Amino acid sequence: MSDTETLKTDLLAEVEAASTLQELDDVRVKALGKKGLITAQMKTLGKLSPQDRKSTGQALNMLKGEVAKAIEAKQADMADAELNAKLLSEKVDVTLPTRPESEGYIHPISQTIEEVVSILGEMGFGVAEGPEIEDDWYNFGALNIPDDHPARQEHDTFYLPGTGEHGRKVLRTHTSPVQIRTMMAGKPPFRVIAPGRTYRCDYDATHSPMFHQVEGLVVDKTVHMGHLKGTLIEFCRAYFGVEDLPVRFRPSYFPFTEPSAEVDIGCTREGGEFKIGHGDSWLEILGCGMVNPKVLENCGIDSTEYQGFAFGVGIERIAMLKYGIPDLRTFYESDLRWLRHYGFSALDVPSMVGGLNP
Ligand code: PHE
Repeated sequence: MSDTETLKTDLLAEVEAASTLQELDDVRVKALGKKGLITAQMKTLGKLSPQDRKSTGQALNMLKGEVAKAIEAKQADMADAELNAKLLSEKVDVTLPTRPESEGYIHPISQTIEEVVSILGEMGFGVAEGPEIEDDWYNFGALNIPDDHPARQEHDTFYLPGTGEHGRKVLRTHTSPVQIRTMMAGKPPFRVIAPGRTYRCDYDATHSPMFHQVEGLVVDKTVHMGHLKGTLIEFCRAYFGVEDLPVRFRPSYFPFTEPSAEVDIGCTREGGEFKIGHGDSWLEILGCGMVNPKVLENCGIDSTEYQGFAFGVGIERIAMLKYGIPDLRTFYESDLRWLRHYGFSALDVPSMVGGLNP
């Protein structure tokens, strides 16, 4: 057997015997490294006769290739084996029943936001977000609420120390600043909803200093009041699960919409019992309107070409109505008994297909 063949047999045996990636790498260095055995053999070629040099050179090159290939193949095998072992050790039996102690509850606020997102998502709205600490201009100015506007007082704003690039810092009093951020950041058309926390200095059975709203905004060339009405009627009926729910649009005023409306749904209050649906009473649930052209212009959108509609819904309010929760303050008391009573199973993910009313 020639030297090269002996070397080959030895090296391939060592590759075969390596049982860890580290051992395999040691063999690689020993065979193919700068100071490795094959490299050392290559260095002796100069001393051979031209004829021997050619044949030995070829044999060594072939050996180099074969050893490298064997190492690579072994490496791949080892990686596969490692993955298989990992998969085996992390095996989970998904058919096992859930353990009672792992049960948790989804808060009605989270559940309601999911319901609203799934209804409007189905209609083609995407979800947008914005910061809870806003600059004055985003929360008020750009929305056509100038410095001396009475709406500022109605909002009972929490001002914060400091000034941003766009005015005094405030905890946003509504989700409407997300309209501004959405319009400033992109090009129309827009079709977004923005759920999130909002803050006003107010506290009683129907108000909390921190609460949630969902804002809706649609901007396009031919959007009109009919689209606004259709969207919101459909939304109310799907959310409350009443197919023929009466929905009424009552003229109102918001500085950022023109014309503006408040939306009422039908209900009955007979014998002290409150029920949503056909009846002789109405209940206000949200504010809306056609985006004021001044707001579009403030965001650099040509109001002679584009128009839109917007709406804002109080999440706590519609959650209280749907799930019969009498006091808004209880949402934030972290009382486990309350959560067990009003909370939802983690597996009740709301969807238009699966049904929204667990
Ligand atoms: N931002 C208004 C509020 O907080 C609600 C609203 C949003 C009204 C969008 C009209 C259009 O009361």
